[in-house]
Amino acid sequence: MCGIVGYIGYREAYPIVIKGLKRLEYRGYDSAGVMIYDGEAVKLCKTKGKVVDLEERASKEITTNGTIGIGHTRWATHGVPNDVNSHPHLSNSGDLVIIHNGIIENYAPLKVELIKRGYVFHSDTDTEVLVNLIEEVQKNENIKLGKAVQIALNQVVGAYAIAVFDKKNPDEIVAARLGSPLAIGIGEGEYFIASDASPFIEYTSNAVYLEDGEMANIRLHKKMKVRKIQDDSLVDPYIQELQMNLEQIEKGGYDHFMLKEIYEQPNVIKDTYRGRLHPNEGIIQMAGVEDNLEKFLNADRIIIVACGTSWHAGLVAEYIFEEFARISVEVEYASEFRYRNPIINSKDVVIAISQSGETADTMAAIKLAKENGAFVFGVCNVVGSSISRETHAGAYTHAGPEIGVASTKAFTTQITVLTMIALRLAKAKGTLSHSDFNRYLQELELIPEKVKEALKTNDRAKEIAAEFKDAPNCLYLGRGYNFPVALEGALKLKEISYIHAEGYPAAEMKHGPIALIDDQMPVIVIAPIQGHYDKIVSNIQEIKSRSGRIIAVVTKGDTQVRELADYVIEIPETSDALSPLITTIPLQLLSYHIAVMRECNVDQPRNLAKSVTVE
Ligand code: M6R
Repeated sequence: MCGIVGYIGYREAYPIVIKGLKRLEYRGYDSAGVMIYDGEAVKLCKTKGKVVDLEERASKEITTNGTIGIGHTRWATHGVPNDVNSHPHLSNSGDLVIIHNGIIENYAPLKVELIKRGYVFHSDTDTEVLVNLIEEVQKNENIKLGKAVQIALNQVVGAYAIAVFDKKNPDEIVAARLGSPLAIGIGEGEYFIASDASPFIEYTSNAVYLEDGEMANIRLHKKMKVRKIQDDSLVDPYIQELQMNLEQIEKGGYDHFMLKEIYEQPNVIKDTYRGRLHPNEGIIQMAGVEDNLEKFLNADRIIIVACGTSWHAGLVAEYIFEEFARISVEVEYASEFRYRNPIINSKDVVIAISQSGETADTMAAIKLAKENGAFVFGVCNVVGSSISRETHAGAYTHAGPEIGVASTKAFTTQITVLTMIALRLAKAKGTLSHSDFNRYLQELELIPEKVKEALKTNDRAKEIAAEFKDAPNCLYLGRGYNFPVALEGALKLKEISYIHAEGYPAAEMKHGPIALIDDQMPVIVIAPIQGHYDKIVSNIQEIKSRSGRIIAVVTKGDTQVRELADYVIEIPETSDALSPLITTIPLQLLSYHIAVMRECNVDQPRNLAKSVTVE
């Protein structure tokens, strides 16, 4: 869950590496470091803190000229975030320099062995073990860096994306991946290495995404060579044309990426259904679904695996698939699924949902499902990500880069894709009437306008945020389709404002959580007019009679809840099944404003990282 960047070419490497690290900070931001080779010596600077702290320190401590460099932004796994544990790490001789994203699981026995052979370790990291292992192999076999990296990697267990530099042979960087992403940008006389393509999009639109188990020898003025780590066989790498542009990864006038991404939702939902949804013709077409329609139709059940916000989107999908397509659905935390010996068979369709497409637990759940013969379909945002490649087929959400650690547009676009799949299956199975099917198609097309309307609740959300920003706890309640929205609202609040929040199905209140309610407890109730309105009104009354402070998300024109609630936020009306796409908007805004008012780091909340590539 770290970010790595490397450059080898004719430009100054330092500014490229630093800018690249800033773009990758969403992957981890507890410490950072850089190595620049100036033609004679290795210049190393690393520090606890963010990339700006690194910049400040580097400006005082090193000269930064040189056309080869590597850098790292860290999310600690082995060893606390401090200067010493920050990357890059040097080998004992000082010749080899490494940056690493991932975990070397068998680092402990390797370290013991290396200590016996006289190696000294300065940090608590697994990475320092790897770089010394490479050095030991190189020394014993008297071989070049690439071969030494390959032999060493065949001895390690775990996950990695690495870039290694050898001062003795300084016109080369060796990169390798297993389980952690690695993109290589190919320019004219220059190469870029990064955890994703964002650090180099202004320099080249040609990139190779290394596959798991591959390594690349990247040499100045030479064609890059890619080979399999296991058997040394050469691979002809596929050069992909990047679709990302610079504007997409900049804040564009917003104070935070999260806010920008919240406001992007009308457009990205449109991008998600563009070319797939045709209300006038009564058609939904998604290549990955069409090509595998029989598999979906013959499925005994659908199992959805995901983590975090993506898991919440999966819960919404459970309601939608069962309602529309009458297919039984189970939604599983990927981390639980992979370790609990689940019953999976060849008639199961497994849908893996992931914004990043790199989440380690989701990846492992996919592998398990495939081993057991299931057909695995991915719903990912990041094009070319590991999950999108590991699944049998899939549909991209087309939300564009999501940089704020708190997922917003990923959630609504995932729901959009999943709704379209459910509708397509409903059509094939005849489980929705012709008129209902067409009505949903038309309504889905109107969602971006309604999201725009819902975004107008921003000022209201801000007022309410000012009132509740100091609350130590918060409850979120919803029913049916909006129960997962309650969970998602609570997750948003806790992850960016550090306020303890719980989401519950509203009717579960009386089975325990109602005991928490007093005149200090804010209770956010999602109460649109469609759905179980009367039931939720009763739940609101129960809270009211215990003096809870009620903030209700209601349909425009609502009168009943307005009388009971302390605050209401009005959203446009839509059918019950599509309502999560709208009700979630004010909850995103509310968490955002509370976090800003509490002076929290909205885009990079403490202890978190955007893609969780460790289990
Ligand atoms: O990239 P993924 O969708 O697989 O990520 C899953 C979770 O890590 C992610 O949704 C996380 O919960 C977010 N921080 C939520 O805002």
